[in-house]
Amino acid sequence: MKVLVIGGGGREHAVCLALSKSERVTELLCAPGNGGIARVARCIPEVKATDVEGIVRLSKEEHVDFVVVTPDDPLALGCVDRLEAEGIRAFGPTQAAARMESSKIFSKELMRKYHIPTAKCEVFTDCAQALSYLDTQEAPIVVKADGLALGKGVVVAQTIDEAKEAVRDMMQGHKFGESGARVLIEECMFGREVTVLCFCDGKTLRPMPASQDHKRAFDGDLGPNTGGMGAFAPSPLYTPAIAQRVEREILQPTLAAMNAEGFTFKGVLYVGLMMTPTGPRVVEYNARFGDPETQAILPLLDADLMAIFEAVEAGRLKDAEIRWKNESAACVVLASGGYPGAYASGLEITGIEDAAALGATVYHAGTRAQGGRVYTAGGRVLGVTATARTLREAVDRAYAAAGRIHFDGMHMRRDIGSRDA
Ligand code: AMP
Ligand code: GLY
Repeated sequence: MKVLVIGGGGREHAVCLALSKSERVTELLCAPGNGGIARVARCIPEVKATDVEGIVRLSKEEHVDFVVVTPDDPLALGCVDRLEAEGIRAFGPTQAAARMESSKIFSKELMRKYHIPTAKCEVFTDCAQALSYLDTQEAPIVVKADGLALGKGVVVAQTIDEAKEAVRDMMQGHKFGESGARVLIEECMFGREVTVLCFCDGKTLRPMPASQDHKRAFDGDLGPNTGGMGAFAPSPLYTPAIAQRVEREILQPTLAAMNAEGFTFKGVLYVGLMMTPTGPRVVEYNARFGDPETQAILPLLDADLMAIFEAVEAGRLKDAEIRWKNESAACVVLASGGYPGAYASGLEITGIEDAAALGATVYHAGTRAQGGRVYTAGGRVLGVTATARTLREAVDRAYAAAGRIHFDGMHMRRDIGSRDA
């Protein structure tokens, strides 16, 4: 089968690497791809992940049999709908189903209607009303833009003044364009966060090992929010008893709710959970694999990823063979100095082969390969993943490998997994 993967980050590298091991895949393409993906797939840098018509054209020209749509933007733009209309099989939710992620108000209303535990919230379309509502509330409080905002549309405000500033930025300053035309003001939940990614074909949900992400830029969960500085799986916080409770109170009700609302969710449903003192509650849904969670989860898969994607697309996930290794995986992100703020690009990276020689997998997130050398080309540059019998060992091995890699200004957190290992 000829398969096209959409995207060009560390997550897509992990997906491509897993697919390249499938006997079902005879040819692998990736648009746009990156310097590391180019080793396992033919990259098409001209076709960007948001260029839905370009993706459809490429799929037809190349006679692609199956397209894996990984990032949030093309899903929200209806990429899967367009491919299906052309008779091309695809993995990922339709535009209607992707609203689970692309509209926080949509998913909140669904949770409220079907009694799925989450933070209480109010929705505002008028800035003055949002500000006067805040006068009646207490901090900390959470302000969210409705639409996609590159993971930056959430402010956990420590004071009411900070919350007001966030509301003004989103609604008057148009910081996130249309995404901020409507805002949610949400109760602040307290607890540890765990992510559960689930394969879903609309009838069956099959959870992957639970993972934990590290969103803040610096050690000790300090500094600004990022796309994610590292992840590990499985999460020791997600005990079998918690897993059963989440299945009963959150996963199955979410599947039933999506069906009752008349849309079939096919793809990966990302369920972000907060382990609050009163039990697990939903922080957010995403309609795709997480990044960098995927770089810590797929190395644990002991089955054919392509066969799973096909089973999801065909609606026969219930019988698909999905096994997981009885191991732990840790992924440490190597970022450009300054990220998530401004950073330099085009710096040469050395030591990738040395890191791989230690048994780690080096996923490329923002790199460019040229003339046999690899250069930085993004905020998150590489993700170094190691697997081992225990989380402690996986973490140590990931750091040992990461220590072999160098580029000017390179920044990594030193405490990935350390609180739980
Ligand atoms: P999101 O983009 O919805 O994942 O939010 C980003 C981060 O903001 C989450 O991972 C949480 O750490 C935090 N967050 C979002 N909503 C809440 C909430 N209601 N209470 C506390 N923290 C939250
Ligand atoms: N790591 C968070 C996300 O993928 O949204």
